[in-house]
Amino acid sequence: TYVVTEDCIKCKYTDCVEVCPVDCFYEGENMLVIHPDECIDCGVCEPECPPEAIIPDTDPEAEQWIELNTKYAELWPNITRKKDAMPEADSWDGVENKYEEHFS
Ligand code: SF4
Ligand code: F3S
Repeated sequence: TYVVTEDCIKCKYTDCVEVCPVDCFYEGENMLVIHPDECIDCGVCEPECPPEAIIPDTDPEAEQWIELNTKYAELWPNITRKKDAMPEADSWDGVENKYEEHFS
């Protein structure tokens, strides 16, 4: 499965949802997550994300985000259509440590 990481926070470009063949993205206020039981591991979303927030769960950096994706995919609503990125998405692209203050 693939996971969405911190790089999505405050960006939410949503290019990912347009290409996912199984519509397994779920939307929080400031980031998206992937439902691990629904993702078919196709990988097409990975190159679509401008800040490269989507990585395979086999990536060492994915470890801390697996639990978060699993948990919030059950709580947040499904998102299947692209929408406008967050207002200051470009200025948040690449900013580090967004999770502590801006996760939701
Ligand atoms: Fe969807 Fe494929 Fe990305 Fe999984 S890897 S979230 S199935 S586009
Ligand atoms: Fe987030 Fe990237 Fe999708 S910023 S909304 S994971 S395209």
